[in-house]
Amino acid sequence: MFNFFKKKKEEVKVNPFIPLKVREVVHETADTVTLYFEQPEPYLDYKPGQFLTLVMEFEGKEQRRSYSLCTSPYVDPFPGISVKRVPNGLFSNFLNEKIFPGKTINVLKPLGNFTTDFHSKNRRHYFLIAGGSGITPIMGILKSVLVNEPESIITLIYASRNEENIIFGKQLSMLQLANPDRLKIIHNLSQPSESWTGLKGRISADVFRDLFAKAEYEQRYQEIYFLCGPDGIMDTAMKVLEELKVDKDRIHRESFYSAAAHQAHEDAIHGINTGILTRDVKIVLEGEESVVTVSPEQTVLEAGLAAGLNMPYSCQSGLCTACRGKVLSGQVKMDEDAGLSEKELAAGYVLCCVSRPLTDDIKITIE
Ligand SMILES: Cc1cc2nc3c(=O)[nH]c(=O)nc-3n(C[C@H](O)[C@H](O)[C@H](O)COP(=O)(O)OP(=O)(O)OC[C@H]3O[C@@H](n4cnc5c(N)ncnc54)[C@H](O)[C@@H]3O)c2cc1C
Ligand code: FES
Repeated sequence: MFNFFKKKKEEVKVNPFIPLKVREVVHETADTVTLYFEQPEPYLDYKPGQFLTLVMEFEGKEQRRSYSLCTSPYVDPFPGISVKRVPNGLFSNFLNEKIFPGKTINVLKPLGNFTTDFHSKNRRHYFLIAGGSGITPIMGILKSVLVNEPESIITLIYASRNEENIIFGKQLSMLQLANPDRLKIIHNLSQPSESWTGLKGRISADVFRDLFAKAEYEQRYQEIYFLCGPDGIMDTAMKVLEELKVDKDRIHRESFYSAAAHQAHEDAIHGINTGILTRDVKIVLEGEESVVTVSPEQTVLEAGLAAGLNMPYSCQSGLCTACRGKVLSGQVKMDEDAGLSEKELAAGYVLCCVSRPLTDDIKITIE
C-alpha cells in the first residue's frame, strides 16, 4: 500500500518548465537577435530586469543558460530576450543561427533581483549604465519607468563598440524623441567611425563623476543606479559611487559572465590543486536531507545533480542566485559571490554552483 502511494506521488511530479513558442526573431545587429515569444497560458509573470533560464539538450546533455528579458510586462504584449553571440559559445550561436518562429524552447519561471518597485508616485532619477548586451535588462527597466513613473527621469549611459553595434539603437532614439524631458541617452563608442562626435574610447571615471556628482546636489529626485555590462565599465562606475558614498541599497548590479568562476572550473577539472578534499555534504532540499560526496573537481551543485537531486540552478557561474542555499554548519569556499549582497553573505547564504567544501560538517539547506 505504502509503495503504491509513493509511486503515485513520484508520477505526478509537476513539469518544472514553461514551454515558450518563438513568435518573432528580430536581428538587432550583426551578432544579436531578439526572440519574442507567444504568451503562454497563464501569461508569463515577470518583473522588468528579470531573466529566463533556457533549457536545451545538446548531444544528449541538458544545458541551461540565463537570458534577461528585454521587454516590459507593462508595455510589451509579448516577452522577449536578446542574445549576443559569444565566440564559440554554445547557446548564443545556436540561438542566433538556428531559431525560427514556431520553435518551442523550455524555460524556467523568471528569476532575478535586478529590478525595483515601479510606482506612479516615485520621483526618482534612474541612472542606467549598460555595456553591450547588458542593455537587455536595462531596456525592460527603462520602458517600465517611462510608462509607470511620470515624475521620474532617466539618464542612460550606454557603451557599445561602434555605431552598427548599438543594440536597440532605433528603439532608443524613438523613446528619446517621445520623452525629451525625461530621458537622456549618452552613447559611448569604443571604436567609432570618424564622423562620430559623441563620447569615445574607454569610458572614464570622470564621465561618471561629472554625472553622478551633479545629481547628488539636485534634491528633487532620489537617485537609483542599475549597472549591467562588462566588469570594466561596472567597476569604474562603482568606484565613483563609492567615492560619493552612495547608499549600497540604491545600487543594482548584474553580471553576465564571471572570469573567476570560469577559471576555478577549468582549474578544478584539470586537477590543479586548490587544497580542496573530497568531503560528504548534507543537502536539505524540499525538507528532505541527503548526503552527497563532493570530489575536488566538483561544486556542491554538480555533485548534487550527479547524485540525482533536483537542485535548482541556471547560470552555473555564481551570478544569478537560482542555486542559493544557506549554510547551517561548516564552511564552503565560493569561486564567485557577485550574485549575493553583503547582507546575504553575512546571513550565511551561499551559491551552490560555485561552492566547494572546506570542512567535514557542512549542511546546506536550499530554500
Ligand atoms: C543573469 C544573467 C543574465 C544574462 N542575460 C543575457 C542577455 O540578456 N543576453 C546575452 O546575450 N547574454 C546574457 N547572459 C549570458 C548568457 O547566459 C550566456 O552566458 C552567454 O550567452 C554565453 O553562453 P554560450 O552558451 O553561448 O557560451 P558558452 O558555451 O557557455 O561559453 C563559450 C566560451 O566563452 C566564454 N564566455 C562565455 N560568456 C562570455 C562572456 N560574456 N565574455 C567572455 N567570455 C565568455 C566561456 O567561458 C567559454 O570559454 C546572461 C547571464 C546571466 C548570468
Ligand atoms: S546557478 Fe546561477 S548563481 Fe548558481
